[in-house]
Amino acid sequence: MSASRIRVPDLRERKTRGEKIAVLTAYDATIARLLDRAGIDVLLVGDSLGMVVLGYDNTLAVTLDDMLHHTRAVARGAERALVVADMPFMTYQVSVEEAVRNAGRLLQAGAAAVKLEGGRPVLDAVRRMVDVGIPVMGHLGLQPQSVHQVGGYLKQATDPRDADTLVADALALQEAGAFAIVLESIPEDVARTATASVHVPTIGIGAGPFCDGQVLVSHDMLGIFDRFVPSFVKQYANLADTISSAARSYVDDVRAGRYPQSLSKVSGVPGR
Ligand code: KIV
Repeated sequence: MSASRIRVPDLRERKTRGEKIAVLTAYDATIARLLDRAGIDVLLVGDSLGMVVLGYDNTLAVTLDDMLHHTRAVARGAERALVVADMPFMTYQVSVEEAVRNAGRLLQAGAAAVKLEGGRPVLDAVRRMVDVGIPVMGHLGLQPQSVHQVGGYLKQATDPRDADTLVADALALQEAGAFAIVLESIPEDVARTATASVHVPTIGIGAGPFCDGQVLVSHDMLGIFDRFVPSFVKQYANLADTISSAARSYVDDVRAGRYPQSLSKVSGVPGR
C-alpha cells in the first residue's frame, strides 16, 4: 500500500474506480496512529466524541474548543489518512460568516476538511466554505444533532417522500461543492439510489453495503464503548473486557505486592 497522504480529490477517484473507502472515527493521537498504520483512508474526528469519550448522553454539548483540541491530537497521529473534523452543534447553523470562521479554525487545527449535518438548510454555508477553499463532507439521514427534533436515534428516509427528499439533498450538497456525503441509518435501497445519483462518494453508517465507503465509530467497532451497541455495528474486538481485565490484574498485583519489582531488576526507558 502506498504511504502517500490521502487527499480530498483522491476520494472521488476511488468512487470512479469502484474502490471502497474505509473510514473510522478517532479522537486522540495514539489511536489515530494505530488506525492510520492499519490503512484507514479517512479519520473522522466525530462529535460522537461527546458520547464515547466525554461521557455526555448526546453530541449537543460538544464545543468548538473540544473539537479543536481533539482535532489537533488526531492530526499529530495521522500520517497518511485524510483528517476530517465534525462541526459541532451551533457552530454552523447561526450564520454563514460564523460557519466559515469556525470551519477555518478546524482546518488551522490540522483537519483537511470539515463535516456538517443537514441538506438544504446548510447549502449556503457549504457553498461559501467551498468557495474559500474549505472542503466539506455532508451528512444526511439520521443527524444526531437533531435528536430532540426527531425524537431519538431513529432510522430515516423510510417513506418514499423522505427518501426522495434525501436524494434531492444529496444532489444539492454535491452541487454546493461537498466532496463526500455521509449517509446514516437509512434503508439500503435509499442509500443505493443516493449513491448512484451523485458522483461524489457516499460513506454509509447503518445504511447497508451499497455506499462507496463505510464509517464506524471506532469505540463501537473496537468494543470500548459498552453503554450500548448500535445494531449495525460489527465488533472487531472487545477491548472493554480486555481493559477491565488488565486493570483488575493490576489492582490484584499492587494489593498483593507483586508489582512493582525492585528497580534494580528492570531495564529500558526510565520515564515517559
Ligand atoms: O460523530 C460521528 O462520529 C459521526 C459518524 C457517526 C458519521 O458523525
